[in-house]
Amino acid sequence: MIISGGLVAIPTETVYGLAADALNATAVAGIFAAKGRPPTNPVIVHVSDEAAATELVSRWPIEASRLADRFWPGPLTLVLPRSSRVPDVVTAGLPTVALRVPAHRVAAELIAAAERPLAAPSANPSTRLSPTAVEHVLSGLAGRIDLVLDGGPTAGGIESTVLDLSSARPRILRPGPIAPSALEALIGPIEREAARAAGDAPMPSPGMMSRHYAPKARLVCVEQDAGERVATLARRGLRVGWLSFAEQAVTGTGVIAIRLPRDAAACAARLYAALHELDARSVEWIVAELPPDSEEWHAIRDRLRRACTDE
Ligand code: TXA
Ligand code: MG
Repeated sequence: MIISGGLVAIPTETVYGLAADALNATAVAGIFAAKGRPPTNPVIVHVSDEAAATELVSRWPIEASRLADRFWPGPLTLVLPRSSRVPDVVTAGLPTVALRVPAHRVAAELIAAAERPLAAPSANPSTRLSPTAVEHVLSGLAGRIDLVLDGGPTAGGIESTVLDLSSARPRILRPGPIAPSALEALIGPIEREAARAAGDAPMPSPGMMSRHYAPKARLVCVEQDAGERVATLARRGLRVGWLSFAEQAVTGTGVIAIRLPRDAAACAARLYAALHELDARSVEWIVAELPPDSEEWHAIRDRLRRACTDE
């Protein structure tokens, strides 16, 4: 299927990806069409190992080697200057390519069997929630893709950390499961806060578009007093979902409460499934409690913020 240019949804350790032969521009264009993804948003290329990654770049700095040795296979994506082998459609015309080695047996075996790199963004319609289970893939993309490989629910639950190594100073483009301090321990200082794209300023990474990873319902993020927010919306007769860390999230008429784990990794694994579930139950609003503003929760706060409806 991959070799003939088809689109295959695959499990990875983070979320499901929609894979195609990364060296076949027509196949990769099919990914953009299926997702409704703007052609300006480049996709990640998944490879079998560091040696395969080096074939797709024009420069492989020592920092890349150190990080790959430590974190691959795993949820770290490295952005590097690309080689001419990578089709333009993959990188949205950028001079760089994003690479990672997924830590999932199914993904690894497919790359090995196809004997080529796989371009794979998350397997969801553009701007919507990433899928962490086959049902999520099908509810967004059924009829638009050729095959889904079912690996059960994904273990990680949020997308990989994206680190730009293409310019003088390494920079986090998307926070994820691998924390900045773990990266800094190997390669020294990195820029942690990717500046948000403002107005017409060029976007360093298109995934930084502020509304992204969003459920269908309108979503508000609150630091405190979530219960009052939920009650106020429910009194207006709205169906409300409540993502809560509290022991006793109260369920009233028209309120569906889902309790999230207080452990950051466990919460990440559950987060998108909880949002998908609230969407499936047709809530009109979601009130999401924000976890603490500490490093381990950074990626989850980032995803919740981007799922927020601007009020
Ligand atoms: O965990 C993941 O990363 C999942 C699984 C399937 O691997 N993939 C994923 O892909 O989340 P996607 O396409 O949904 O997000 C890729 C991110 C986007 O924010 C994109 O803009 C950025 O990586 N990206 C890709 N190529 C880039 C490049 N050359 N320069 C800067 N950012 C890039
Ligand atoms: Mg995505």
